[in-house]
Amino acid sequence: MTALVRDDAVVVPVSLGSRSYDIVIGRGVIATLGTRIAELRPDAKVFIVSDKNVATHAMAPTQTALKRAGIASGQMIVPPGESSKTYRVLERVCEAILDAQIERGDLVVALGGGVIGDLAGLAAAVVRRGLDYVQVPTTLLAQVDSSVGGKTAIDSPHGKNLIGAFHQPILVVADTALLDTLPQREFRAGYAELVKYGLIGDAAFFSWLEMHWRDIFAVSSRNSAREHAVAVACRAKAAIVGRDERETGERALLNLGHTFGHAVEAACGFSQRLLHGEAIAIGMVLAFEFSARRGLVPAADAERVKRHFAEVGLPTSPSDISGPLPGLDPIMELIAQDKKVKRGMLTFILVRAIGSAVIETGVEEHEVRVFLNEKLARR
Ligand SMILES: NC(=O)c1ccc[n+]([C@@H]2O[C@H](COP(=O)([O-])OP(=O)(O)OC[C@H]3O[C@@H](n4cnc5c(N)ncnc54)[C@H](O)[C@@H]3O)[C@@H](O)[C@H]2O)c1
Ligand SMILES: [Zn+2]
Repeated sequence: MTALVRDDAVVVPVSLGSRSYDIVIGRGVIATLGTRIAELRPDAKVFIVSDKNVATHAMAPTQTALKRAGIASGQMIVPPGESSKTYRVLERVCEAILDAQIERGDLVVALGGGVIGDLAGLAAAVVRRGLDYVQVPTTLLAQVDSSVGGKTAIDSPHGKNLIGAFHQPILVVADTALLDTLPQREFRAGYAELVKYGLIGDAAFFSWLEMHWRDIFAVSSRNSAREHAVAVACRAKAAIVGRDERETGERALLNLGHTFGHAVEAACGFSQRLLHGEAIAIGMVLAFEFSARRGLVPAADAERVKRHFAEVGLPTSPSDISGPLPGLDPIMELIAQDKKVKRGMLTFILVRAIGSAVIETGVEEHEVRVFLNEKLARR
């Protein structure tokens, strides 16, 4: 389904009936943002939401691209980080969009990582009962995951991402050159989500990543490994979202590693101590080891996954987390609070092989407790 258009851009379609849209991937594709928007929504005004770090690097090229297509734009820059996914910042973004006289038919542009995509996407979902928006993801995590699929949210004191809406963008423009300024640690964390697609359903992609990961990290316009990898991930996510937009089934596979991962991420207070991607690298290794323990997957597969994350420099077990962690009971509590709990039974995404994940709804808490107790004892 992937077609090559204009220069070297790869276009991955997301098929959702009247809510279908394209993901445009390539080095330098930000320069085509204005013309692409003008084609989709002639005469629309644009309001850009970004964060301070992103704006330093990416605001100027974004505004230039819009101006060149004759598009007027306003902007709002919020502080970087998860702390911007709050009611208070959402309110400020919504009011700024109204102040800029953005009407139905105009557009919001989310220029940034997953935080900005989630925040601006939710603002677009609620202002005037729904404005169209465009995702311009600037982190690897956002390019391979959060900018696609229409999940938007802010955090509540009750937990992460609890206040949100499904609201699909009308276009995603993923300029892989924008990732050149991303701090290495953030890049690596996003890489964990990229590996996830191999582990869920594409063993050949995982093998390819084992061979080519260094090319994806390399700052170079000559090799196209990064663009290829982002395209494979987006194609996989688009296919899953196309079949299960609202996560009533298959889309849950994208949560591989996230039950264990969220628990350790929460245990570290969602802080710089452990980034989301680092947490789910640990979570995915634990999901493989737990599956191996149940006899579902060969232990050698779990070892292989662990080896790859370690080679890339990602943490692979709770013992890689520096500083104190809460004990088993609070961590089990965090797992039980996870949204994937139904009637006392835990739902886990387990694996039968590298490239074959399954939704398992009947995992007993006790089993998890015994497994985690061992893992935490090794710290
Ligand atoms: N909606 C979804 O489907 C979905 C999926 C996964 C994660 N998420 C959400 O995404 C968020 C995490 O996203 P993230 O990892 O992209 O974090 P982020 O948006 O906070 O970006 C990480 C850091 O990198 C900086 N940055 C971003 N782009 C840059 C660039 N090109 N150059 C230099 N610095 C740059 C940011 O300012 C920030 O400090 C979480 O809130 C998570 O809940 C949403
Ligand atoms: Zn994730």
